Amino acid sequence: MNLLTDSLGPPIAFAPMFPVSRPRRLRTTAALRELTAESRVHVSDLIAPLFVREGIDTPQPIVSLPGVVQHTLPSLVDEVRQLVALGVKGVILFGVPSTKDDVGSGAFDPNGIAQKALRTLRDTFQDDIAIVSDLCVDEYTSHGHCGVLDSSGRVDNDATLDIYCRTALAQATAGAHVVAPSGMMDGQVGAIRAALDAAGFVDVAIMAYSAKYASAEYGPFRDAVDVRIAGGGDRKGYQQDWRNSREAVREVLEDIDQGADIVMVKPALAYLDVIAEVRRLTPLPLAAYHVSGEYSMLKAAAANGWIDHDATALEHLGAMKRAGADIILTYLTRWYAEHVS
Ligand code: PBG
Repeated sequence: MNLLTDSLGPPIAFAPMFPVSRPRRLRTTAALRELTAESRVHVSDLIAPLFVREGIDTPQPIVSLPGVVQHTLPSLVDEVRQLVALGVKGVILFGVPSTKDDVGSGAFDPNGIAQKALRTLRDTFQDDIAIVSDLCVDEYTSHGHCGVLDSSGRVDNDATLDIYCRTALAQATAGAHVVAPSGMMDGQVGAIRAALDAAGFVDVAIMAYSAKYASAEYGPFRDAVDVRIAGGGDRKGYQQDWRNSREAVREVLEDIDQGADIVMVKPALAYLDVIAEVRRLTPLPLAAYHVSGEYSMLKAAAANGWIDHDATALEHLGAMKRAGADIILTYLTRWYAEHVS
């Protein structure tokens, strides 16, 4: 039986006045779809975030970030060697120190864990992969904030800039190709650029976490770097309010004025509108950070059998590119390099 004609009667004849537009024509074969795809993700677009922890003998799994570990120095080198072989062009490094203090001095100690790791990576891999160093102090401060506190317990913007400049110099000296200030202090890009230039590091680039929102999606990352914010506090006093997008434009423009080489929007999927807006306003390379919580939600749903991991991962990364990101920082980098490209 023919459902259409039996239940509805004979089809209605219609004669279009002109040839019907048929977008489906270009969807008829996989080859045509591939040929006409407007955006694609390439392994060389991706940066792998990596954690290195002081004082451990074996890599430590991070429960809330399945598949991601806190590395020892040797396991970090191993991981980067594999990423280089797979064609990955960037890693971003986060240090997890064994002791913390009020000002986060481990962040700029020449023998701090991040500096040790940067030196080892640069010695081992030279310029084969871009070595990016996250530049912040929250992993190193006893109170867990991204800066130093004033007498009333608030993050002191300008005193923090001094700490960031020391950290930038320590990271550049240790071999970072790129420093990535993530603390959302006003004036941080300009201060760091001036300090780097004055010390002769004119070729060390700045990837600015320009539009970084106070997001609940950083939860698993804080497990990865052992950060708890004192008194159950939050970062709303310096990271952006997620209700705002014009404010992101302001932040990005200021970072560009101050000398940013790459600008970033973070997190990614809940902020695709911001990525698209920033794409329109600057010719600079634009990075999107697919953050820990976004990754963990994918892993958790997939582990329950509720979604298809690979298909969803591709759709998510693809959406960031479609919105206008050039570079994606993602914990999926290794998976993508091994299984997709
Ligand atoms: C701050 C920093 C954070 C992330 C990157 N750099 C955490 C924060 O702002 O609380 C989050 C990354 C992620 O969630 O994957 N040093």
